[in-house]
Amino acid sequence: MSKTLVITGASKGIGLATAKLFLEQGYRVINLSRSACALPSVTNLKIDLASHDWSNEGGQDLLQLIDDSQEVVLIHNAAIMTKDSIGDIDPAVLAQVLQLNVVAPAQLNRLLLPKMQTGSAILYVSSTLGTKAVANTHAYVISKHAAIGQMRASCQDLVGSGIHTAAVCPGFTETEMLQAHLGENPELYKEITSTIALGRLVQPAEIADTLWFCSQSPAINGAVIHANLGQVER
Ligand SMILES: NC(=O)c1ccc[n+]([C@@H]2O[C@H](COP(=O)([O-])OP(=O)(O)OC[C@H]3O[C@@H](n4cnc5c(N)ncnc54)[C@H](OP(=O)(O)O)[C@@H]3O)[C@@H](O)[C@H]2O)c1
Repeated sequence: MSKTLVITGASKGIGLATAKLFLEQGYRVINLSRSACALPSVTNLKIDLASHDWSNEGGQDLLQLIDDSQEVVLIHNAAIMTKDSIGDIDPAVLAQVLQLNVVAPAQLNRLLLPKMQTGSAILYVSSTLGTKAVANTHAYVISKHAAIGQMRASCQDLVGSGIHTAAVCPGFTETEMLQAHLGENPELYKEITSTIALGRLVQPAEIADTLWFCSQSPAINGAVIHANLGQVER
């Protein structure tokens, strides 16, 4: 098969919705995460990307899987969000967040680039918190700003390759990550949706649509695309 999506974190949430959409569009899909993506035709590589030496074993398997691909879309989606602040940040936790959210994408780029032909794309899933900050998400904010820098640097390094890149910045999206961050407090959900112009959470399928659009649009190269239903300014 000639078109392949390589995506991290497609076992749930935004990654799962994206894997489903690319399958519907005729792509072969390879997922890298610790637990499997349940969609029947997805190839799963069970990998802990927070471990710095994940590529020693998983890397060769991945290269073999994409060997016959003419076009590769690589989506850096897996991430963790921790609760921490300037006063209590644990350097070990910061290092782990950066490994998963920033270093693993760099490792994957380096591994796959030699196999990626003209027409391929590298997409980074950043966040609204890639361009602004809120309190108590110190490591995450740092990592999501880094993802945008990583995308911009990729764009410059890829000049002449025919490979395009973009960073998609989801707003509050209804996934386990958001649930874990906000807990079950209905008042908090009310407060959050009051900051969203369309008055509801983003659905994972809407971010999948945005990633699909970016992957098929070489004009969107070096761009930061916000997908957040509009933010209410006060
Ligand atoms: N939800 C939001 O409101 C929101 C807003 C802005 C940006 N984002 C971004 O959107 C992306 C997807 O988030 P989501 O909301 O869909 O999160 P999610 O539902 O928590 O899914 C996260 C994915 O990352 C994978 N993952 C986590 N740790 C991993 C590890 N050590 N190794 C490999 N894979 C790992 C998980 O798979 P396993 O657990 O199976 O390993 C899972 O598939 C992230 O980059 C996030 O920062 C989300």
